[in-house]
Amino acid sequence: MAEIIDTRIEPDRAIERACAVLSDGEPVAIPTETVYGLAADATNADAISRIYEMKGRPRFNPLICHVSDIAMAEAHVTFDPVSRQLAEAFWPGPLTLILPQRPESTVHALASAGLDTLGIRMPDGFSRRVIARFGRPLAAPSANTSGKISPTSAAHVEADLGSKLKLILDAGASEIGLESTIIKVEDGKLRLLRPGGLDAAAIEALTGLAVERPESAGATIEAPGMLASHYAPGAAVRLDAEDVRKGEALIRFGGKALPGESDAVIVMDLSPGGSLREAAANLFDYMKKADASGAATIAFGPIPNEGLGEAIIDRLQRAAAPRA
Ligand code: TXA
Ligand code: MG
Repeated sequence: MAEIIDTRIEPDRAIERACAVLSDGEPVAIPTETVYGLAADATNADAISRIYEMKGRPRFNPLICHVSDIAMAEAHVTFDPVSRQLAEAFWPGPLTLILPQRPESTVHALASAGLDTLGIRMPDGFSRRVIARFGRPLAAPSANTSGKISPTSAAHVEADLGSKLKLILDAGASEIGLESTIIKVEDGKLRLLRPGGLDAAAIEALTGLAVERPESAGATIEAPGMLASHYAPGAAVRLDAEDVRKGEALIRFGGKALPGESDAVIVMDLSPGGSLREAAANLFDYMKKADASGAATIAFGPIPNEGLGEAIIDRLQRAAAPRA
């Protein structure tokens, strides 16, 4: 079983142990502000292999490299002016940039799945301190079995991967609760490869450039991890429910009751007061709770398609997609 260290109680021991396990070429589950990550030394091929093994993740799906400062990023990737502006404004934070990897970068090709670009981000919170001490980038996907719901607490990680892991750092619930927004700048244009915890409108406001969306989620697999079915609970998923059917679990938004909900197995509201930020932070935990209720179907009430609603709806559509 995994050892769990609470970073709020023993920060120094948490960093020491994490660096020791990482130096041994073993992954460590680390808290970031988006979701918990399964982190390994991005320059060590064996360590990266362990991530793919533990998650059961296809090896064509590249990993995000996490850095503690811009100088560490610059040792591995080249910034165009717009990407630099984004990094300076939004790092540390829930933004991943896809940038050309430098020839002298020591990040192993297994992390980038052989692409000539790297997904790179500077996370906020305790994980950044771990990276700073370790001194090298950490490759880290979300710390869940491939295709399943991402973890927003140490308990989520333990329930899914605890038997395979040596160490989990616990910093409490992830503040944002959705994975980072992924942006690729091409010919001065901003392409949104994955909506996430940074609202695309904030990116447009900063740069004065339009953020271009792919035609439809999963239509082209530009970020190779964007397979249509993902975030899949055990239960079936029904979106935009206007009523609740007998035996369903209900997850709604905005505090408004739906007809039939007294027959639901469980009713949860992502944000009774209608805050999309609060809804994002609760989403994955509530999906896991609804799944654990034993309901055969989870019904979701409508979510407004604005701001962080875009990323929430993206995750729900993948959760509802036909399973492979
Ligand atoms: O918030 C997050 O981004 C979390 C935390 C742990 O940082 N990480 C995360 O990683 O969500 P993961 O592996 O679940 O998703 C990484 C996504 C995948 O869709 C992958 O295909 C894409 O990033 N990606 C990574 N490198 C890429 C590259 N060079 N080009 C295009 N897409 C890339
Ligand atoms: Mg993931």
